[in-house]
Amino acid sequence: MRQLSSERRKWLAFGLRVARLMLKGPHQTPFLVRRSYDRLAPGYDQAWTNHMRSRSLQMLDRLAPPENATCVDLTCGTGYVTGELARRTGGHVTGVDSSAGMLAVAREKHGHGCLFVQADAVDYLRSLPAHSVDVITCAWGLGYTRPWLMVREMARVLRSGGRAGIIDNTLFSLSGVLWASVLAFAEQPEVLVHVMQVRFLPAGWCLAFLMRMAGLAVLATWDGAKTYHVPDGQTAVARLTDTGAGAGFEFAADDLHREPVFRRFAEILECRYPAEQGIPITHRYLAAVGRKP
Ligand SMILES: C[S@@+](CC[C@H](N)C(=O)[O-])C[C@H]1O[C@@H](n2cnc3c(N)ncnc32)[C@H](O)[C@@H]1O
Repeated sequence: MRQLSSERRKWLAFGLRVARLMLKGPHQTPFLVRRSYDRLAPGYDQAWTNHMRSRSLQMLDRLAPPENATCVDLTCGTGYVTGELARRTGGHVTGVDSSAGMLAVAREKHGHGCLFVQADAVDYLRSLPAHSVDVITCAWGLGYTRPWLMVREMARVLRSGGRAGIIDNTLFSLSGVLWASVLAFAEQPEVLVHVMQVRFLPAGWCLAFLMRMAGLAVLATWDGAKTYHVPDGQTAVARLTDTGAGAGFEFAADDLHREPVFRRFAEILECRYPAEQGIPITHRYLAAVGRKP
């Protein structure tokens, strides 16, 4: 009985801490996400692009961008999808991202065929005239932005017959692994200094709904998952930070406690999963392709 009440107290303290941090402004999420991506940019293609390449290509195949199309690739990162758009269309392709580090890699790898701009994705769309672009993509970045504004602006900026393709992690991506991090912080809520305020959508139907609301015809929508296993908790934490899956989250604890709390996170992961199978890391994703009538 006594143990139950101390457990309840722990969760109450954690809940209050999270609520207080969420209510306290100004929110640092965009700044922390940028800081993470600036740091991990040099190894990003190795850690993430190679792993999810087939899923990004599937979205582009279904999008079927026409030759000579004017394209904008939002949250372009290191420019893999941007480069593919240029290769497939031969048109004028612009990549937009908020991280200078990611853009430096993009310019090095794809700068010959594409233009890269540092900007917030929604702000950039707002700066474009209506009916001015043939193809707009956003791969693996929608949840960091304001999804409804993004989709609405995409619909405004597209020309009639123009196409939008979006693929992103869902709200439930990595849920097993992230639950272990919640348990680690619940043990010492006072070390939590930032709560990430991201807006990942729950599933493809939700993205399709936003597209329809914005006036786009939905040509395809789908969901999927990709799992890999890592041998231990430290590798799992390293993968989360190197792939960007934990972008911003790496600054959740104060400087003094960051290392111990992430060590505890790794320990909890190892306790939850049998060593012989390794720790599963599952990226759940959603995608949709729309067309402006
Ligand atoms: C997971 S990466 C995706 C990169 C690339 N599109 C790909 O397919 O691998 C997410 C990217 O979104 C960018 N990002 C996050 N918030 C943004 C925002 N508000 N505006 C523009 N870019 C943003 C990050 O800097 C990062 O490069």
